[in-house]
Amino acid sequence: MAALPKDTVIAVIGAGAMGAGIAQVAAQAGYPVLVYDAKDGAAAGGIAGVGASLAKLVDKGKMAADLRQAIISRLTAVDSLAALAPAGLVIEAIVEDLAVKRSVFQQLEDILGEGAILATNTSSISITAIANGLKRPGRLVGMHFFNPAPLMALVEVVSGLTTDAGVAQAVYDTAAAWGKSPVHAKSTPGFIVNRVARPFYGEALRVLQEQGASVPTIDAVVKEAGGFRLGPFELMDLIGHDINFAVTNSVWRAYFNDPRYQPSLIQQELVEAGWLGRKTGRGFYEYGGSAPAPQPATAAAASRPARVAVSGPMADHPLAARLKAAGIALESCPGDDAFLQADGVRLAPSDGRPATLRAAQDGIADLVLFDLALDFGSCQRLAVSVADQASVTALTAAAGLLQAAGIAVSLFNDVPGLILTRTVAMLANEAAEAVHHGIALPADVDTAMLKGVGYPTGPLAWADRIGLGRVVAVLDNLQQTYGEDRYRPSPLLRRKAAAGRGFHG
Ligand code: NAI
Repeated sequence: MAALPKDTVIAVIGAGAMGAGIAQVAAQAGYPVLVYDAKDGAAAGGIAGVGASLAKLVDKGKMAADLRQAIISRLTAVDSLAALAPAGLVIEAIVEDLAVKRSVFQQLEDILGEGAILATNTSSISITAIANGLKRPGRLVGMHFFNPAPLMALVEVVSGLTTDAGVAQAVYDTAAAWGKSPVHAKSTPGFIVNRVARPFYGEALRVLQEQGASVPTIDAVVKEAGGFRLGPFELMDLIGHDINFAVTNSVWRAYFNDPRYQPSLIQQELVEAGWLGRKTGRGFYEYGGSAPAPQPATAAAASRPARVAVSGPMADHPLAARLKAAGIALESCPGDDAFLQADGVRLAPSDGRPATLRAAQDGIADLVLFDLALDFGSCQRLAVSVADQASVTALTAAAGLLQAAGIAVSLFNDVPGLILTRTVAMLANEAAEAVHHGIALPADVDTAMLKGVGYPTGPLAWADRIGLGRVVAVLDNLQQTYGEDRYRPSPLLRRKAAAGRGFHG
């Protein structure tokens, strides 16, 4: 298979937020594009919008004026479905309604040539269901762009039960020729991104509900330790709680109420209050007012330890290297577990057990747990939790140690898996489950999360780095702590961990 030839006429139906952007992408790639919208003037308006946004690029010196003109000249507004007859690929981006989409595609089958490809940009409707009732259901495929389409690289190419493999491949190759990063996926609720991303919101909402930490504290840790561009609450405020809550609900219902996707009462409250996020001026945060931005909880400066004991498994850890570089004397100490110890206080990475339970099980009272980081060698902040049995000075000792390495400390209440440990384990679990069910290949799942939602690394690559055995242990501990099916590890994750393999090589 190869990309559709450059003289193939592309038709875009629906000239709203997505359709106009998709039309721009195709025209920018050199293809002639017809744009149709049921609303009078909307197609021309969509093209005018593309012209205006390209004019801004010209003004900034990022695009030549004659290139802009060439792109615009390839976009033509038409006023009927019948006018789309010459199209070889139709991309539908109309209202998210199964009956309306089906009807449009059924009409198109009588208008277009038999070889034309029918693509839908739906983000939540089954491709299999849209194809049902078509004369040539094999010609219908999902071509799911992300908003804004000209900027976001990901395109999920979604095959329903009846989609021809060759049709999916032609759309994949065409998206690649348009400069996008396409991935293949099977039609399943949420496809890849809207499914695998659920724990990013869900775990933060759980930790908030359990009063593990404040909204700005969780956001700060996820950004400064996790390397995510936005914290989960900032991102939900940006997306809009009405939309984010609706997507969570639809995925949860579509998977027959699997507790992994269970929506949050906290988010429901926001929706019911009309606090939908940025667009209403208030969500988890307030916007536009004069109130100062809420600050993350940060432990007060504490004195640095004279020396730190380092257990064997922690010897090569970047935190030990940072302490050494800061001039702290390191001593090796015996122990099969990874930990650092200063002034009798033990600091260990979270394994998904609450600190208090672990302190009791392991017989160590002065226990402080630290959260995961994307890169312990450079992170600026870490979340910690302290066992209930610990002495009153335990937090100060732990804070002094981490601050000596240049790391701000955010104290969490004793929730299992703090925030990044549990979130990354659950993202990896969801990604593994999608692979386990044959929805997508590991590389495509990681590409989807990198290019579709800008994660700092793919969840499966991150799990490989942590070690799959550790990820499974975190999930097992979460499942045991909560007694909930929500945290059950994917059989594939367990199998790969047992084999000592990773997802990538
Ligand atoms: P929108 O409301 O901005 O635009 C939809 C356009 O379709 C409107 O101009 C409307 O007049 C037109 N339209 C409605 N019914 C029509 C019909 N029967 N025939 C022709 N035109 C019709 O919607 P948006 O946000 O662009 O979404 C379009 C599709 O893309 C939906 O299926 C949505 O789920 C999907 N999508 C949306 C994303 C987003 O972030 N907004 C992201 C990815 C997919």
